[in-house]
Amino acid sequence: MTARNLLLLPGDGIGPEAMAEVRKIIAYMNAELGAGFTTDEGLVGGSAYDAHGAAISEGDMEKALAADAVLFGAVGGPKWDDVPYEVRPEAGLLRLRKDLQLFANLRPAICYPALANASSLKPELVEGLDILIVRELTGGVYFGEPKEIIDLGNGQKRGIDTQVYDTYEIERIAGVAFELARTRNNRVCSMEKRNVMKSGVLWNQVVTETHKRAYSDVKLEHMLADAGGMQLVRAPKQFDVIVTDNLFGDMLSDVAAMLTGSLGMLPSASLGAPDIKGRRKALYEPVHGSAPDIAGKGIANPIAMIASFAMCLRYSFNMIAEADNLEKAIAEVLDSGVRTGDIMAEGCRQVGTVEMGDAILAAF
Ligand code: NAI
Ligand code: MG
Repeated sequence: MTARNLLLLPGDGIGPEAMAEVRKIIAYMNAELGAGFTTDEGLVGGSAYDAHGAAISEGDMEKALAADAVLFGAVGGPKWDDVPYEVRPEAGLLRLRKDLQLFANLRPAICYPALANASSLKPELVEGLDILIVRELTGGVYFGEPKEIIDLGNGQKRGIDTQVYDTYEIERIAGVAFELARTRNNRVCSMEKRNVMKSGVLWNQVVTETHKRAYSDVKLEHMLADAGGMQLVRAPKQFDVIVTDNLFGDMLSDVAAMLTGSLGMLPSASLGAPDIKGRRKALYEPVHGSAPDIAGKGIANPIAMIASFAMCLRYSFNMIAEADNLEKAIAEVLDSGVRTGDIMAEGCRQVGTVEMGDAILAAF
């Protein structure tokens, strides 16, 4: 049996509480389904800073590089607000993304039927929504040089960020989007601003060429990113896979997320390039942060973390049936009216983190 090595990095705040529920699912899969997961654990964020004075230790970085997949909880909290910038909790996540070269960020926006009423949009616009935003994560304006504030000497300063994209960066993120579309509904919408940005012109060209060369079976559409933002809130179900750059992806994925309800529901995956065996480095994490306001109270919604593990099953281990079943278990539990506080509604039964995890495990 293939070994399946997971590194668990629960982090801070509600991270460990949510991770505990995933640990139960892993134990169940090993005992009952012969899944053969081996798990190791490490520290990240504030908890790593307290132990090692760094947001992640070199030893844990080595474990992350060796693992088949990393499950990441959340980092940060008021306790570490004043630590030096280089070792702030977020630096642990940024280091992981950089060293594992996780260039593709996958953010699904799925509207569970039971939560259609919780959306900021009309239920009929979001019921059954299932879109996947593929955001380029390691390039673009967040990393391009020059990046600085210069003093113009006349009482004025100039802040500069530079949007840079090379062909290979666009090709590889487009490739991920097309591959994923083939496992879904075979449709990709690429978003950029070719009308005002040179990098947008190149983005559009390279996506088009990549499509022609290797993915012409997939339906490709292009949209200006601002129009895409409008369409996402006007008629989100028109989309299946959306591929876009780092900056637009940051905003559009947050917009799409809010169509589906609470932060406590949203999973994500970050993938690297396939190695010689076709395996990608990967990190899975909920979209939410460490939620210091509710940490330690046992009331955090573990669904985002559990749904991140479902993505891990699907994308790192090709355990499609298991991933589907886990997502179905989440939907079933929501249908049955079991809710954590953040998604509580009239007529439902409010439970804590552990009970929610137990209910999902029982339905799995
Ligand atoms: P947050 O996502 O931690 O919390 C925002 C609000 O949503 C809070 O009211 C929280 O209680 C609620 N919430 C979040 N997740 C929930 C869940 N699973 N169940 C129920 N309610 C949930 O964002 P915030 O408050 O802006 O940041 C708190 C800390 O987390 C900061 O230190 C921030 O830097 C860090 N952070 C870390 C991230 C990461 O680890 N990737 C991402 C975002 C923030
Ligand atoms: Mg964001």
